[in-house]
Formats: sequence, C-alpha cells, structure tokens
Amino acid sequence: MITVIGSINMDLAVVMDTFPKQGETVLGQEFSTIPGGKGANQAIASVKLGSDVQFIGCVGKDRFGEQLTNNLQHYQIDITGIHQVDAPTGVANILIHKHDNRIVVIPGANAALTTQQIDAHWHKIAQSKLVIMQLEISEAVVAYVLDKCKQAKIKVLLNPAPAQHFSLDWMEHLAYMTPNESECEQIFQKPYEQVVAMYPNKVIVTLGSKGACYHDGQKLVAIEGYKADVVDTTGAGDTFNGALAHALMNESSLADAVYFANIAASLSVEKFGAQGGMPTVAEVQQRMKQ
Ligand code: RIB
Repeated sequence: MITVIGSINMDLAVVMDTFPKQGETVLGQEFSTIPGGKGANQAIASVKLGSDVQFIGCVGKDRFGEQLTNNLQHYQIDITGIHQVDAPTGVANILIHKHDNRIVVIPGANAALTTQQIDAHWHKIAQSKLVIMQLEISEAVVAYVLDKCKQAKIKVLLNPAPAQHFSLDWMEHLAYMTPNESECEQIFQKPYEQVVAMYPNKVIVTLGSKGACYHDGQKLVAIEGYKADVVDTTGAGDTFNGALAHALMNESSLADAVYFANIAASLSVEKFGAQGGMPTVAEVQQRMKQ
C-alpha cells in the first residue's frame, strides 16, 4: 500500500489568450472549478494505475471539502485519514496561458494537518511500502513523518513542491526526491546535473517536455520526453510522481519506473485539468508501443 500525506485543493482555473500585465485587466476564455492539490493528484495518479492508496490530509467543513473528499473516494482511495477542520479547504488559483500555467496556492485546511493526526493514523501508515509527501502541508509534519518513517524503515518519496521550506537534513531520510529543474536549483543552489550526481538513484529531476534524469552512480541517465499534444500541463509532475511510485512498488527498476512515469506524464497533459488526463496502465502500455 502507498500512503499519501498531502494536500487537497480545489483548482480555480482560468484559461486566457492574453496574460495580464501588472495593473491590467483582460478578458479570459474559460473558468473551471476542478479537483486538484498535489497530494490528491499524486494519490489519484497511483490509484488509476492500480495501486492501493490511503490518504492522510485535511479539508474544511465546506462544499469544496465535501466534493474533494467524495472525488478521492470515487477513485477507491481510503479516505479515513482525511480530517474536516475549522479552516477553508485549500484552493489553487491557476492561470493557464498558451497551455502553460502559473499557480498560487492558498493552503487553508492543508496547513492544519498536525503531528497528532499522524500519530492517530500511524498504525495504518506503518503498513505502507511507500509514503509520498509534497510541501503543501506544514514543514513540521513533513519532518515528523520523515523521522517516524526512518525509524520504521518505510521508504519515503518527497516531491519538494513548492520548493520552499525544504531542509537539506531531510536528504538522508529520503528514498526518492523528485524536484523539477527550477525546484532543484532553488533547493541546492547548483545545476541539476551536479545534484543528481551527489544523490545517485535518489534525486530524479523532471524536465518538462525534455523528460527526466537521474544519476545511476556511474553516469547521468536521461530519459527523453515523449512528444504529446499538449492541452494543459497542470498536474503533469503529479502524474509523474504517482506513476513513479506505482512502478517502483511493483518491482520496476528505477530506469523502467522513470520511463513509465514519463509516458504517464505525457498522457496527462493531453487533457484538461490536473486529474483529467491521468492514464490507466493500459493507456501507458498502448503509448509505449507507439
Ligand atoms: O501540481 C498541480 C497542483 O498544484 C494543482 O492541482 C494545484 O492544486 C496545486 O496544488
């Protein structure tokens, strides 16, 4: 089983032809309210591929919280670790321009997840083969989970997004870390090629349409991006993480898992919304044959 400890957001997505300058008002083309949040997205990416997933996180006692919890349940994710708290459900304002996005997250209820709640669910978390986290929940909770997982010898995959509040001390606790290129440079203050060499088989850097890369201890391994008909890149990184976790938990080698995750991410960008294009295993296998 995979446990995702992370964020649940409602994505408020606006598609626009013209990106406004500072102080300018423009007319947009479309507005959608769709499920998102890096934690929820990664959980759904894994479960759609066939993994068994439980979720630990918080939503508000509001309409968004109810809709987003139902959405996770609809995908057969174990939601018994989701708490309703006295804060508004997290939201993400997403501006989509020329198929690319800019996102502002208001964590709301996500920030209310506590170490006490982790303790309350520890008996179930302790059964995981892998714990996945991102950085849309509190830094104290991430640090606490890393310590507990280290003691219990449970592998952790950390997607350090957004790249704030990352502590370099965490590196020794991680089995896998999956920054994108800019997150990697922001955290380590070094080019990503140097970082992957410092952490062989551990740091996997996603490079958008250029694919992903890691170091195998002897050489840099670059896995090329798969050409996709891009509609919306929101959630591509989350699909990569969920698919990577799924493949690794099904005994794939790191090389095969990164290849699989790369294909899954390429499929995800061909539909609208963070979760809209997340593929099944059959869809990934189909694309591998193309
Ligand atoms: O990675 C994409 C996600 O980032 C969006 O769904 C949004 O909610 C933010 O968390």
